[in-house]
Amino acid sequence: MTDKVKLVEKIQRLKRERRAVILAHNYQRPEIQDIADFVGDSLELSLCAAQTDAKIIVFCGVNFMAETAAILNPDKTVLIPDKNALCPMASMLPADLVKFYRRKHPKAKIVLYINSLAEAKAYCDAVCTSANTAEIINRMDSNVVLFGPDMNLAKYAESHTDKKVIPIPPFGFCPVHKLFNREEILRLRRMHPDAEVIAHPECDPSVCKIADFVGSTSRMYREAIVSKAKKFIVATEIGFLHRLKKNRSDAAFIPAYDEAICVNMKLHTLEKIYLSLKNEKYKVVLPARIREMAKKPVEFMLKTRETQG
Ligand code: 13P
Ligand code: SF4
Repeated sequence: MTDKVKLVEKIQRLKRERRAVILAHNYQRPEIQDIADFVGDSLELSLCAAQTDAKIIVFCGVNFMAETAAILNPDKTVLIPDKNALCPMASMLPADLVKFYRRKHPKAKIVLYINSLAEAKAYCDAVCTSANTAEIINRMDSNVVLFGPDMNLAKYAESHTDKKVIPIPPFGFCPVHKLFNREEILRLRRMHPDAEVIAHPECDPSVCKIADFVGSTSRMYREAIVSKAKKFIVATEIGFLHRLKKNRSDAAFIPAYDEAICVNMKLHTLEKIYLSLKNEKYKVVLPARIREMAKKPVEFMLKTRETQG
């Protein structure tokens, strides 16, 4: 038995003993996706976290995702295997900045991308993910909506609603999706004229404009599963290609940029998952007031989904 197989067995045993569930984002390392109970995008992982009857949730994603699981599960233990897995984009919008924009635009509603800190979510009206941004913005009873922290998603959402969407802060961005470039994708498309271009809305609008399909990672996944294309150019973090290749083994997946790596997502390893379960580390604990305040806008998003079926 190899060391890796032994480690996986130890994780599975501990998981059963502790009644734990392992949730992994689409960008996790392949070996983590392979042992997870559920792999998905931010919205699906939030739904999973809201519905699980496990006692412990091991969250293999970045801080804001594990925080969302903690917001929805005050009675469960939420663990993150590496506590340094932080999303730099989420850090671009601290709570004080949300309060500042609230004072500046008192009539506007505030919608925050799930990629935001719990302390920021506590001061917004609704949370959304890249899978439901326009739907949630449309539900706001104001003509102007402040949206953050991703300016590209704000622009993308504005083109899909009749509301005025103001990005807060004005230039919030994901450093990984910033790496994709329209000219490079057009070059790849000339090389592979039969390929379908699928992109995440965190990419620059010039990239989204030339893509055949734009959506959250799980929407991109579903598109790749149902599409007749045999070749895809993929403009999102490269960890996602593992799931695509595994489930569409007849198709070729070409990264739009092969160094688009979210180093924070990659901090989790099998070894750290094992230690996390064994030592119940690192617990994601939020101040009760922040948790209570942030719960409302997160639940608004989840309820919107329920009413839409
Ligand atoms: P999803 O919205 O597809 O989960 O992606 C989250 C993310 O962090 C994108 O960079
Ligand atoms: Fe944050 Fe970008 Fe990494 Fe997603 S890919 S977790 S937005 S840094």
